Amino acid sequence: MDNKNTQLENIVSLAKRRGFIYPGSDVYGGLSGTWDYGPLGVALKRNIMQLWWKMFVDDRDDIYGVDAAILMNKKVWEASGHTATFTDPLVECSNCHSRFRADKIDTSKCPTCGKEDTFGEPRQFNMMFKTHVGAVEDDTSISYLRPETAQGIFTNYKNVVDSFYPDLPFGLAQQGKAFRNEISPRDFIFRSREFEQMEIEYFVEPDKWEESFNALLRDVHAFLDALGLPQDRVHELEVSEDDRAHYSKRTIDIEYDFPIGKEELLGLAYRTDFDLMNIQNNSGKNMEYTIKGTNTKFVPHVIEPSFGVERAVMAVLSAAYTEDEVNGEKRIVMRFPEHLAPVKYSVSPLLRNKPELVEKAREVYRILKKKHGNVMWDDNGNIGKRYRRQDEIGTPYVVVIDFDTLEDNAVTVRDRDTTEQKRVSIDSLQ
Ligand code: GAP
Repeated sequence: MDNKNTQLENIVSLAKRRGFIYPGSDVYGGLSGTWDYGPLGVALKRNIMQLWWKMFVDDRDDIYGVDAAILMNKKVWEASGHTATFTDPLVECSNCHSRFRADKIDTSKCPTCGKEDTFGEPRQFNMMFKTHVGAVEDDTSISYLRPETAQGIFTNYKNVVDSFYPDLPFGLAQQGKAFRNEISPRDFIFRSREFEQMEIEYFVEPDKWEESFNALLRDVHAFLDALGLPQDRVHELEVSEDDRAHYSKRTIDIEYDFPIGKEELLGLAYRTDFDLMNIQNNSGKNMEYTIKGTNTKFVPHVIEPSFGVERAVMAVLSAAYTEDEVNGEKRIVMRFPEHLAPVKYSVSPLLRNKPELVEKAREVYRILKKKHGNVMWDDNGNIGKRYRRQDEIGTPYVVVIDFDTLEDNAVTVRDRDTTEQKRVSIDSLQ
């Protein structure tokens, strides 16, 4: 196994062992391309999503939140071009019938059965999951699980304008599930069939798109900094015209040095008036915006920062994953930024068989729990084992209650990164 794969395997194994992320439907042999978040994973994911919401919605006065339905009228996907063009090229082995993405396979030998030259011509495979809404299963009841959250924003653009009439430029933000029937889900959560997105559609005057594009690019980098991703592992890729999505006039992909190599973390696209014009033409509803106090009307253009939550989680996990040595002993430590760590404090009595220590530790635990929420009680094994366990889940501080605490109301706080231990008063714990 090469180095990169080893690093990914280590992260996948830690994620499962410590309750971050499990393979979906594991107990029944799994379901390819699906993953379940355990207690620590859901905490980490939520911290990332809440940070995004804070930085892009709550801290600003030009971006509003929405939360649209996952199931949408199929006309949405006809108008957006997804029904016709949201496809990947698929090849099938004529011997074992395994299917692969034609653009991701660089050999004429089937990876499943090993036979040579068994692939036919690629055909286009639509990645949307089809379903039926209501009790009748015919063409009229077809719907799709949304393959992007973006369309739920575009279809609500007019509603929000009518309710709030925000000045341009303004944005609508949404977080939520998206589904793609990927031909070859791979690399842990990197390419999944069910995942979450965090997207903004930012509406601008047509001739002012560039300044908003540049400003949002800066905001995207500020968010990645806040995720604790090292800047030298974050790269901008100016996507060429040939590689851009059908709706985009300019796209910058932000790539990250994942353990699997340099791959797309998120995209920033100038979508012009493609979506709103499509909605206007297909629904017959007017999507024009009128500049307040004037007769100037136009269909706004759109800049779209589109983040994948799973890719952000994977980047944060891989940036945090560290192996080092403490007093000659190897340890794995997840160096999460404090504001993302699933558990901020763990609280331990030095000895679990001394009721007076346990009682005092419980008191400290309750105080911290009330204040921070993400606080863990941990009295399992000796103190060294507890430190190792908390290092592996990235807890920044382990608070230990000992006999002196009963006298001086002070505790020992052990720092995850430096492993230093400090004596501080209980009141001073923030
Ligand atoms: N609305 C635009 C859009 O959806 P995209 O490049 O297809 O653009 C945006 O997807 C982001 O969603 C990607 O940069 C990636 O972070 C995430 N994403 C896309 N497909 C994914 C998959 N199969 N598994 C996990 N994340 C995915």
